[in-house]
Amino acid sequence: MAETPDAQDDRTALDLLLRGFQVSRMLRLVADLGIADRIAPEGQVALNDLARDCGVHPQPLMRVLRALSAFGVFAVRADGTVAHTALSRLLRTDTPKSFHHAARFWTAPGSWRAWERLDVALTGNVPHEAAWGIGRFDYLRAHAEEGRIYDAMMANYPDDRHAAIAAAYDFSGAGLIADIGGGNGAMLRQVLARFPDARGVLLDRSDVIRAIPPDGLMGGRIAIAEGSFFERVPEGADVYTLVRVLHDWSDEDCVTILRACRAAMKPQALLLIGEQILDPDPASGQHVAYLSDMQMMAMLGAARERTEDEFRGLLVAAGFTLRRVLSTRSVVSVIEAALA
Ligand SMILES: C[S@@+](CC[C@H](N)C(=O)[O-])C[C@H]1O[C@@H](n2cnc3c(N)ncnc32)[C@H](O)[C@@H]1O
Repeated sequence: MAETPDAQDDRTALDLLLRGFQVSRMLRLVADLGIADRIAPEGQVALNDLARDCGVHPQPLMRVLRALSAFGVFAVRADGTVAHTALSRLLRTDTPKSFHHAARFWTAPGSWRAWERLDVALTGNVPHEAAWGIGRFDYLRAHAEEGRIYDAMMANYPDDRHAAIAAAYDFSGAGLIADIGGGNGAMLRQVLARFPDARGVLLDRSDVIRAIPPDGLMGGRIAIAEGSFFERVPEGADVYTLVRVLHDWSDEDCVTILRACRAAMKPQALLLIGEQILDPDPASGQHVAYLSDMQMMAMLGAARERTEDEFRGLLVAAGFTLRRVLSTRSVVSVIEAALA
């Protein structure tokens, strides 16, 4: 009996899901070669010239680009030229919130090999540790190039959370804002640009802090603190922010981080958690949030995305009260908490 059109569509849809890793790997390859930047946004380049400039063979490059072109990423033309499409333009590094860094990140070796060991998570182990023998953040410290790709990917993440949080939350009463696990300072730069009277202090791992170029500190408005938020958090800020930090950790570790913040906070200080709040219904359309939850499992084991009730539970356990939840124009919400 012939298949109905719907059944054929289902087969195609599942086949493409199964082969998703092939597309991701090709996207990393072209991003590593900087192909998108080598083609002007409205221009075209002869494939042979592109291959020569990248120092690779034209034939395999053509086959990779042709396969991506089938997905609407780049247009390989019959005359042997390559042009941009709407999707491939997003890979240019001069595109706001460029996907270049994400393309290099998702299948970079650290993540790629950890996903291969996803099965061990089901018996309580950490895939990244099974693959590499070390924890995720130690790996990023030891592999500086991948570490900097990670920082750039976080700063350019498609959720555009930094600008969205700066726009949604009124920081005008805050003289000093402490961004805990603030990466390369991308969010503080957005917030301080909007609130000219505020200053910032940025805490992150020493390798991340030391890689920040001097012009990333806004002429001294951002002070830096190297170290671990498990040990010590800078004191005396009016607002503390933890953006996309808690999802990297187990419940137990989150409570330790929150308590370290609590110990540094003045009685009136506020804590803001910036995270995508998981809708408990997986059919709610939050594909990326559920993938992010899986990325946490693959890299960090018990780390996870959380529902609002789960965040409330963590806050209460660490001595905070959840005051309100603000939506932003990004998928990331701001959970405001005060000392209980
Ligand atoms: C998912 S990233 C989020 C970065 C940033 N808040 C943002 O929104 O782009 C988590 C950050 O936590 C930092 N981190 C991990 N372990 C840390 C530790 N023990 N102490 C301080 N920062 C840490 C990482 O270096 C990274 O910058």
